[in-house]
Amino acid sequence: MKRIIVCALALLAFFPVLRADEGMWLPVLISQRIEDMQAHGFRLTAEDVYSVNQASLKDAVVLFGGGCTGEVVSRDGLLFTNHHCGYGQIQQHSSVEHDYLKDGFWAMSREEELPNRGLTVSFLQRMEEVTAQVLKGYEPSMSEAQRDSIVRVNSAAITKSIVNPDKGIRANVEALYYANQYFLFVYKVYRDVRLVGAPPSSIGKFGGDTDNWMWPRHTGDFSIFRIYAGKDNEPADYSPDNVPYQPKRFFTISRAGVKEGDFTFVYGCPGSTKEYVTSDEVRYVGEVSDPQKIALRTLRLDIQKKYMSQDQAVRIQYSSKNASVSNAWKKWQGEAKGLARRGTVASKKEFERYFRAWSRTNQYDGLLDRISALYEKRNPYYRAYEYYTETVRTIELLSFASNVRTALTAGRPVADVAERFFKDYFQPIDEEIFVAVMDAFDKQMDPAFKPAWFKDKLAAYGSLAAWRDDLYARSLFTDKARVLALTKDDLKKIDADPAWEMYDAFYQWYRADLQPVITEVTRDINLAYREYMKAQMEFQPDKAFYPDANMTLRVAYGKVAGYSPSDAVYYSPVSTLKGIIEKDDPNIFDYDIPQALRDIYAEGGHDDQPVCFLATNHTSGGNSGSPVINADGHLIGINFDRVWEGTMSDLAFDPDFCRNISLDIRYLLFVVEHIGHATWLFDEMRFAE
Ligand code: ARG
Ligand code: GLU
Repeated sequence: MKRIIVCALALLAFFPVLRADEGMWLPVLISQRIEDMQAHGFRLTAEDVYSVNQASLKDAVVLFGGGCTGEVVSRDGLLFTNHHCGYGQIQQHSSVEHDYLKDGFWAMSREEELPNRGLTVSFLQRMEEVTAQVLKGYEPSMSEAQRDSIVRVNSAAITKSIVNPDKGIRANVEALYYANQYFLFVYKVYRDVRLVGAPPSSIGKFGGDTDNWMWPRHTGDFSIFRIYAGKDNEPADYSPDNVPYQPKRFFTISRAGVKEGDFTFVYGCPGSTKEYVTSDEVRYVGEVSDPQKIALRTLRLDIQKKYMSQDQAVRIQYSSKNASVSNAWKKWQGEAKGLARRGTVASKKEFERYFRAWSRTNQYDGLLDRISALYEKRNPYYRAYEYYTETVRTIELLSFASNVRTALTAGRPVADVAERFFKDYFQPIDEEIFVAVMDAFDKQMDPAFKPAWFKDKLAAYGSLAAWRDDLYARSLFTDKARVLALTKDDLKKIDADPAWEMYDAFYQWYRADLQPVITEVTRDINLAYREYMKAQMEFQPDKAFYPDANMTLRVAYGKVAGYSPSDAVYYSPVSTLKGIIEKDDPNIFDYDIPQALRDIYAEGGHDDQPVCFLATNHTSGGNSGSPVINADGHLIGINFDRVWEGTMSDLAFDPDFCRNISLDIRYLLFVVEHIGHATWLFDEMRFAE
C-alpha cells in the first residue's frame, strides 16, 4: 500500500496533469477549457470562441491555401496572413518591370487587387464528434481490414450528404487520438481571393534565414488579401463581377499593445505533432533522425553558401532552395537540443515504468514491449530511408532526369520543366553535393542497407570523383538544348542515361528493400498507438488530453513572456523599430532595409514602435498567419514562428523554452501607413479604442 502511495506521489511530481500553457484544443470542446482560460484572464465565453448557433470568433479564422492560417479583419472580407504564406502569390505577380517581392505591392483601390488562380480560403462551418456513426457495425472481434472498410464506408456516407461542390462545401472525417475518436469537419471554401498588399521582402522577410526561428526578431511577416464572393455572398470562381465577401464575423483590432504577462490566444491550424509517443520514438527523433539529417544538410548548405557568396547570380538562383533546406535544418537542431536538455527520453521512460506497473493487471500488459519491438524492427529501415531522401534524392540532376521522364510519358511539355530547372541550376554546386552526400551514404550506411548496384558502381569507378566526372560529362540532362529536343520516342535514350539510371536504381532498391517493411511496421505502430493512446487516457483519468495536430482548427492559450535561452541571458518579449535600425546594414542582404524606413526613423519619435512579441502559446507549423487574440477577443498580432530552442514542443512542451513569435499588429498598421501609404484600408477596419 505504502509503495503504491509513493508511486502515486512520484507520478504526480514527475507528470503534472498538464504543463502550464501546453495544449492545442478543439474549439468544439472549448467549454472544457473556458474556466481555465478565464482564470488566466480571458474575458469572453465559450460561445464567443466557437458556436454553431451564432457568429463566433471561429467565423473570422480561415485555413489559408493548404498550409497556413489567416484572419478576416473587415466587413468587406479583408484578410491578414503571413508574408511567407502569400509568398507564392506575390512571386507569381512579380516580373522584372514590377518586382512586388522586392518592392512590395499595394492596391490603392479595390480595382487594383490582384486575383490568384488556385488560391482558396476555407472557413470551418462546424465540427462534431462522429465516432459512433463511423464505427457503426464494427465488432471488436473483427479484423483490422474489416474495421478499415467499415470506417471508410461509414465516413463516406456521412460526408456524402453534406458535400456540395456548387456551394463550395467540403467535408472530411478525421481520425483523432490515433483513431480512438472521429470528428466531422465541414468547410466552406472561397476561391476568389485577391492580393491587396505586401511589404517589400526587406520588411516582410527582414532577417531572412539568419533570424529565422530566432529571437530577437524584427520581421514584418504579413501580407493582405481580400475574399470575394458571388452577389449572393456564396463561393464563386473569379469574376470581375464578384463582390467583397461579407463575413459572419471579423476581428476588431486592438492598438493597446502587449506587455509581459498579458493573456494571449492563438486560433489556427497547426499541422502535425506527436505528443503521446513512447520513449522509443523520442530517442529515434532526437538521437538518430535529427542529428543525421542535420549533418547531411550542413554539408549541402556549406557548399551552397560557398558558391552563393562568390557570385551574385548564384546567390539569387539558390536563395529559395537554400532557405527551404535551412528552415527544417535549424528547427531540427532546436528540437534535438531541446529533447536532450529536457531529458525527454528519460522522463518518458520514467512514465513508462509506472505505466508498466499499472498495466500488469489489465489488457495493456506487454503493449510497451510490443511497441519497442516494432521500433527495433522499423528503425534500421527508416534510418536508411531518411538517409536516402537526404542524399540521393537531393542531387538535382537525378530528380530533374526523373521529372523530365515523367513529363514525357504523361505527354506534358518538357520545356516547362526544363526552363524552371535551368533558370536556377548551377552545376558546380550539384557536382560538389553529389560527392559529399554520396560519400556520407557510403561511409554511414550499414553495408546491409547499401544497394548492390551502388557498391558495384563505386568499385568499378574506384572513387566518387571519377563517378561524378563521368556522370556529369555523359548525362544529357546537363544540356538544356538536348533536353528540349527530347520527344516521347526518346525514352530509350533516357533509360540509358547515367542520371536516370542512378535515380531509378536507388528507387527500385527503396521500393524492394525498404518500403514494404516500413509500410507494414508503420501500420502496426499506428495500431499499437491506438491502444496506447486509449491506455494513457485510462491511466491518467484526470489529465486533459488534446489531440495531436492534424491541420484542423485549434485553440492555444498562454501569455506574453520572455525566456532565458542560456545561462545569464534573458530575452524580453517585445522587439521594436530601434532593433531594426541596429541590425540595418546595406551590405548584408538579410538586414538591408528600404530607404523609406530609414527616413521615417530619422524623423524621430519611432524608437518604441513595437515590431514582434513572444508568448507561451503551443503552436506548430501551419499556425503561420494565425490571429493572436487578447483577453477581449481583439486582434493583437499575427503568429509566424517559434524560437528554435523550443521547437521540441512538437513532441514535448517545455514551458521554460517554448515560445511562439508574433508580429505586433501595430507594426502592420505602421508599415501599411508609412511604407505602403495604403491608409484607405484603415477605413474598413474596426479598432477597439
Ligand atoms: N520558420 C518559419 C516556418 O517554419 C518561417 C519560414 C519562412 N521564413 C524564412 N526565413 N525561411 O515556416
Ligand atoms: N513558420 C511556421 C509556419 O509556416 C510556423 C512556425 C512553427 O511554429 O513551426 O507555419
